[in-house]
Amino acid sequence: MDVTTQQGFVQEVEADAVIVNLFEGVSQPGGATGAVDGALDGAITDLIAGGDFKGKLGETAVLYARGAMPAPRVVIVGLGKSGDFDLEGVRKASAAAAKRAKKLGVERLATIVHGAGIGELEPREAAQATVEGALLATYEFKELKTETDEDEASELAHLVVVEADAGKVDVVQGGARVGEIMVRAVQLARDLGNRPGNVATPRHLAETAQEIAGETGLRCEIFDEEQMRELGMGVVLGVAQGSEEPARFIVLEHNAGRDDLDTIVFAGKGLTFDTGGISIKQSKGMENMKFDMMGGAAVLGAMQAVGELDLPLHVVGLVPATENMPGGAADKPGDVLTALNGKTIEVINTDAEGRLILADGLSYAQRFAPDAVIDLATLTGAAMVALGRYATGMFTNDEALAGRLSAAAEATGERVWLLPLFDEHKEEVESDVADVKNVGKGRFGGASIGAAFLANFVGDYPWVHLDIAPTGWTDEAKGYTTKGATGVGVRLLVRFLQDWG
Ligand code: BES
Ligand code: ZN
Ligand code: ZN
Repeated sequence: MDVTTQQGFVQEVEADAVIVNLFEGVSQPGGATGAVDGALDGAITDLIAGGDFKGKLGETAVLYARGAMPAPRVVIVGLGKSGDFDLEGVRKASAAAAKRAKKLGVERLATIVHGAGIGELEPREAAQATVEGALLATYEFKELKTETDEDEASELAHLVVVEADAGKVDVVQGGARVGEIMVRAVQLARDLGNRPGNVATPRHLAETAQEIAGETGLRCEIFDEEQMRELGMGVVLGVAQGSEEPARFIVLEHNAGRDDLDTIVFAGKGLTFDTGGISIKQSKGMENMKFDMMGGAAVLGAMQAVGELDLPLHVVGLVPATENMPGGAADKPGDVLTALNGKTIEVINTDAEGRLILADGLSYAQRFAPDAVIDLATLTGAAMVALGRYATGMFTNDEALAGRLSAAAEATGERVWLLPLFDEHKEEVESDVADVKNVGKGRFGGASIGAAFLANFVGDYPWVHLDIAPTGWTDEAKGYTTKGATGVGVRLLVRFLQDWG
């Protein structure tokens, strides 16, 4: 979908539908909604007076303009109570309105910026959130379908952001542009996740990284298995042993070599399919393990946006990418592997492979002398037990860094929740035969134990681990989140960088 910004009045715009809004409890609409109400001879006022529209957040109604405006339809969306309204409300309202318009077969959709008028939000941010909500909500993964849906004769193809105030139109356009960049980055992550394991292989992730680099000017380096062996990445190679599909280690770099800039490293688990290996998973639901690379996908998406926004930081994206398969050469329970930082690992459970491949990723991060490292991984079922699907689990060795992530979470609506990393968790991964082992004593505190294992490979830098098992994908479309891969982490990471300064 392409996005354009236009100065003008929404009641005069050429489109298949226009979106206006209403706060809960308003009986006489003002601003752009009031102007449309005027053009429609009070139809919106009547709708409210009749009790048929309350203005609850995400509530929608459709009215027909019957020639009173160039656009044949008006979609009215509720913004909820004005005191509760924030950027997440903008995204949700915009999502609800765009989904309603899409169902109506609208191709060209015009919208006002939600919340920039009486909502008193900053127009740039409100415009960004309006675009994000509309486009993220109407995302679909259709590339593997050969039969087109009969009901879908037309596609939502254009979003026109309309701003009446000539003094605001430039900032609205700027915000809409950033929104579009964010949406494309999230779509990239969603596409990678939704692609099945036989399409989105480690080599596919590597090719995608090279494409991103080609389009944005990022530096890209891809290590094959031989190069990983020379470097000493014994754990990625150990996990990859059971697979016919060759592993890759992806390095994307923005502002490479700029010693004057702060350095931030992102490391994402790129496990393109997790069977569990020799410690094999049950088959029920195993298809969802194609999403086990969502940490890596978030890093690739974020790096694309970083390049397009040309952020004034040195940013590195690392993605160890492999399958976890139970082949004849697979790593076995009890095997000992050596990580890039020299530590030895006893593999008790081959299904705890995410922490293994990140051991090499976090060790590799050290060579950039980073000011902060953030890893993202669909690491543990235990994080879902702790948090439901309602937050990403966060662990850290630096509370100030965690605070920055919490602030970015607040701004983006991508909730994170700090969980503990105690010395007792660290003691659980001590091994009799090697430096560490990859599981703890039992089921309890599994997400913290995963983080405690990772801590052994964290260098001399502030670090946050984000366990996105709860949030990386979903069975249920909600708001602007679609079914399947969510792309969680992309907007969070970019916002974190934008606020680093
Ligand atoms: N990829 C899984 C974690 C996972 C499971 C994410 C379900 C989302 C949904 C990870 O590799 C794994 O298998 N973890 C094990 C660790 C255990 C063996 C210590 C788990 O969580 O059961
Ligand atoms: Zn696993
Ligand atoms: Zn896994």
